[in-house]
Amino acid sequence: EKIVLAYSGGLDTSVILAWLKETYDAEIIAFTADIGQKDELDGLEEKALATGASKVYIDDLREEFAKDFIYPMFQSGALYEGQYLLGTSIARPLIAKRMVEIARAEGATAIAHGATGKGNDQIRFELTAAALAPELGVIAPWRLESFREQFPGRAEMIAYAEKQGISVQASAAKPYSTDRNLLHISFESGMLEDPWFDASAESNRDMYVLSVSPEDAPDQPEYIELEFEKGDCVALNGEKLNPLQMMEKLNELGGKHGIGRIDMVENRFVGMKSRGVYETPGGTILFAAHRRMESLTMDREVMHLRDSLIAKYSELVYNGFWFAPERLALQALVTESQKNVSGTVRAKLYKGNVIAAGVKSPVSLYNPDIATMEADPTQAYDQGDAAGFIRLNALRLKVSSGVEQSGK
Ligand code: ARG
Ligand code: SIN
Repeated sequence: EKIVLAYSGGLDTSVILAWLKETYDAEIIAFTADIGQKDELDGLEEKALATGASKVYIDDLREEFAKDFIYPMFQSGALYEGQYLLGTSIARPLIAKRMVEIARAEGATAIAHGATGKGNDQIRFELTAAALAPELGVIAPWRLESFREQFPGRAEMIAYAEKQGISVQASAAKPYSTDRNLLHISFESGMLEDPWFDASAESNRDMYVLSVSPEDAPDQPEYIELEFEKGDCVALNGEKLNPLQMMEKLNELGGKHGIGRIDMVENRFVGMKSRGVYETPGGTILFAAHRRMESLTMDREVMHLRDSLIAKYSELVYNGFWFAPERLALQALVTESQKNVSGTVRAKLYKGNVIAAGVKSPVSLYNPDIATMEADPTQAYDQGDAAGFIRLNALRLKVSSGVEQSGK
């Protein structure tokens, strides 16, 4: 029997690897998706083998992540509960997709993951697996009472790992949980569970990985120019970049200027609230620039229709429905809405802010001749028409107001 485990090399998945092998008497294939977690990948293959994996896959999925997941999502303007750019949420379906491909290629009967029974990640992994490979079994040790009894706390996990000869130093050090990829890093649990804990405080500065704090950012602003084609960002300062290169460059720029830190209490799909801190430097620049590009180039009704679907789209991604038919249908509308979103945005990066500094487009819908306060040379708009326009729109307000007055 073979089981494919989504493995990160951290304490939890290391213990789970050894425990699965012991408990199911199966071959454990460790799989790690490289989606931009950088140094977390160092020494991973050796560690997985030493922990008992029969085979290790470390697959570089960064380009696919940027091109087929991050970019389509950014076309939609997705933002969960007004703040979260969905950095972890959008990565899970890709990880699960590759995991089921490996399971099929290896003839495995089940996939396993280290997400807890209280979170969103378990749902995202398993809904993706259900959509793409319904025949595969799923093992989620944290949902098994026997596993939780064996490992009631970190002390027991560390003891077990040491007994199995798994090195735990690095993973046991941090008092909070992190999840890093090309789009963001998240921080949860530990001291962050207290919503009154000030994560922005000077005394907490060592937690952050991708950005400096706005206070420590350069006093000199930095101008950038981003070029868009059909809603996708394709060039930075005149240089063509693919989505992966773009995300890496924007992360560097955003991080340097203290851009993209978010601290929020969010609603998990399983019903509880949870506190999360995020660094999304490049994504925050991209989000602001994309909206600015749309402001010049998108038809009003198309924009308002798309905007009315942002909460829905965000919820689908957050809740793990990336491969569901309704997300695909919505994506078709979103992508269609972007066909005129092309041009160049200039932004000024300064101490945590992405400041608008100009926008232009060969397909701009903005016409200064029509909008001008001066005499309109085009004669496209007759101010006298507005009187009738207002009168007709006022009709029902006047009628209902009249009814209300006579009732008093
Ligand atoms: N709360 C965020 C989300 O649900 C981040 C989750 C982080 N996951 C993790 N395994 N550390 O998308
Ligand atoms: C977990 O519970 O495994 C991490 C947090 C989440 O999935 O929401």
